[in-house]
Amino acid sequence: MKKIIVLGGTGFVGTHVCEKLVRGGWQVTVPTRRASNAKAVMHLPGLTVQELDVHNEAALAHVAAGHDALVNLVAILHGTQAAFEHVHVALPQKIAHACLAAGVGQVVHVSALGADSLQPTLAPSMYLRTKGEGEAVLVQAAMGGSAGDVAQAGFDLSILRPSVIFGEGDKFLNLFAKLQQVLPMLPLAGAAARFQPVWVQDVATAVVRCLAGASAQSSPRVIEAFGPEVFTLKELVQVSAQLSGVGGGMGRLVIPLPAWAGRLQATLMGMAPGEPLMSVDNLDSMKVDNVASGKQPGLDSLGITASALRPIAKQYLGRC
Ligand SMILES: NC(=O)c1ccc[n+]([C@@H]2O[C@H](COP(=O)([O-])OP(=O)(O)OC[C@H]3O[C@@H](n4cnc5c(N)ncnc54)[C@H](OP(=O)(O)O)[C@@H]3O)[C@@H](O)[C@H]2O)c1
Repeated sequence: MKKIIVLGGTGFVGTHVCEKLVRGGWQVTVPTRRASNAKAVMHLPGLTVQELDVHNEAALAHVAAGHDALVNLVAILHGTQAAFEHVHVALPQKIAHACLAAGVGQVVHVSALGADSLQPTLAPSMYLRTKGEGEAVLVQAAMGGSAGDVAQAGFDLSILRPSVIFGEGDKFLNLFAKLQQVLPMLPLAGAAARFQPVWVQDVATAVVRCLAGASAQSSPRVIEAFGPEVFTLKELVQVSAQLSGVGGGMGRLVIPLPAWAGRLQATLMGMAPGEPLMSVDNLDSMKVDNVASGKQPGLDSLGITASALRPIAKQYLGRC
């Protein structure tokens, strides 16, 4: 039985990836900062949860030994420049070192639409810039170049770049529906920003297909994961209301904020305690449309027909 490590396997996408891998006969190891974070996957047969500081390179290399493949889904949406670099750049570097040292032959790295390993600094936000830098580190290592100070034979690398991901438990349609249940109107920053939402199951299938080598392209391969329809942020807010039945399906009045007011709103939200609803960096990410670039293959290159949002979101938003 082939063995795989799934970093971030406890998260929204990771849970679906783990379910599919287990079903596909993989023996799965899920490192986590806290075992209690792994409730959604710990029951899966053939899956081992291991408390680990994934940022400890020696510990990561130790766990990686004996595994055939690794999936990286660890990321943060909010933070300082240092925090983004720690999670999106330094961690991929440690992953590259660990895989090279332990002879892990395949890596699937989940990045984000808008990241670019060739020109990472051109991206408009810390999130996207560091995502691109993290990709670049892995590409270099995969091609047998040096990942920091290590120079060895590489590994097979697939990079998936999803647009915003929907599905039961997602963090945007559910949030928009809940906000409209309690607010009389919704002042919205970045209302005109465009997205091409992709279903979490399609992203998880893509990860598994990359591992199975379903893509005919050679390594390193980059695949954009996007759905069949483009929505503005305002339209997504309205769709969440229609499907969850808020205000009889009409939702609340959405007030697009001018750039200065959106920035002020995001600054204030970013200062609130806990995980912010929106940060200035999120707003910066929306300066570029989160839609297919047309320069990279899509999910169809993996034999996946991307699912439409409404029929699926209706099932879980209807329960909001
Ligand atoms: N969700 C989306 O709409 C979307 C869109 C585009 C791209 N993506 C990308 O898809 C991937 C998966 O996203 P997701 O939505 O599934 O994320 P998620 O639910 O937030 O899960 C991320 C996982 O990373 C781990 N993690 C978070 N911060 C960490 C840190 N500082 N150090 C170590 N581990 C940490 C957590 O594991 P433990 O708590 O168990 O340690 C968590 O399970 C990410 O690369 C993300 O950028 C997501």
